[in-house]
Amino acid sequence: MTKKIAILPGDGIGPEITEQAARVLQALKLDIDMTTAPVGGAAYEQHGHPLPDSTLELAKNADAILFGAVGDWKYDSLPRELRPEQAILGLRKALGLFANLRPAILYPQLANASSLKPEIVAGLDILIIRELTGDIYFGQPRGVRELPDGPFKGERQGFDTMHYAESEIRRIAHVGFQAAAKRQGRLCSVDKANVLETSQFWRDIVIDVAREYPEVELSHMYVDNAAMQLVRAPKAFDVIVTGNLFGDILSDEAAMLTGSIGMLPSASLNASNQGLYEPSHGSAPDIAGQNIANPLATILSAAMLLRYSLNLPDEADRVERAVQKVLEQGLRTADIHEEGTRKVGTREMGDAVLQALA
Ligand code: NAI
Ligand code: MG
Repeated sequence: MTKKIAILPGDGIGPEITEQAARVLQALKLDIDMTTAPVGGAAYEQHGHPLPDSTLELAKNADAILFGAVGDWKYDSLPRELRPEQAILGLRKALGLFANLRPAILYPQLANASSLKPEIVAGLDILIIRELTGDIYFGQPRGVRELPDGPFKGERQGFDTMHYAESEIRRIAHVGFQAAAKRQGRLCSVDKANVLETSQFWRDIVIDVAREYPEVELSHMYVDNAAMQLVRAPKAFDVIVTGNLFGDILSDEAAMLTGSIGMLPSASLNASNQGLYEPSHGSAPDIAGQNIANPLATILSAAMLLRYSLNLPDEADRVERAVQKVLEQGLRTADIHEEGTRKVGTREMGDAVLQALA
């Protein structure tokens, strides 16, 4: 049956980079139907809303969404609900995208891009899985209140609530174990169980889910230690699974280990493997429209789309190998360019990946 892919280019460099990724998908000659719709600031300009109903419907009915990026300083003065970023939150919510997969891969050819010593990071290949819809970011109650008693009596206090339901922990744990089973078979669950009740409960449930995956080796680590180990010995990890708050911070830290934001894909999945795939970087308005943005993070996001939502691992491998090949050939966009390599533009990089696919 024909698979439906919604292409949402968005703002800034979004249109340039999604164009290259769409060309790559097209070149695979699969039974797919790609439809493009506006999102973010571009959609606000056309329809007065960052996530118009027509775009939302297209996304809901698609097997997968290839998303560029949204946002521009020129929308900073809009009310919150009309800002471009609301489109991503709206899509996450409408589709129930609770699992955020962020690989941090450092290709051998780019080992110098990291600020860490090559022996620590060369060949790095880890996957961080962040729970995306729960935790302190969405917990109620939250707000500002006046304190009736205690040492700060009479003062105003800002507060949020951290909580995780058992089913929320179970489903993200399953994603973690299944991903680890397909990789090196090691899953590290990150929490703060020494101080947080939510974390102790998280740990208990993860241990329970582990009984279904005897082939996966489970370990636990406190988040402060995990932050240290990620810079001390990141290659010791295979897959990390963690909550929304800790995952937000650790996934950005892991991204910086590679030093090449233009190379990092991401996926956000729901329970039926419907997913939104986007580069980890933003809309880079500073370089938009100049044919200099690196399209590889988006092309690698398309590879994740093939792997996780279309269940086409061989095609995903093919795209990832093609990216590897263009790096071996010495082609670099400006962000990863160094002496002795050939600087190319966004479109030329897309051309090279298409050639390498053949
Ligand atoms: P950014 O990731 O867009 O840019 C940071 C720096 O990295 C810039 O110097 C940019 O030129 C460079 N860069 C990013 N992607 C690149 C690529 N593919 N090739 C070459 N260089 C690249 O982050 P920034 O500047 O903080 O945010 C810009 C806008 O993007 C804001 O409006 C922000 O809200 C939005 N944003 C959107 C996200 C999304 O759509 N998921 C995520 C993060 C930020
Ligand atoms: Mg973040």
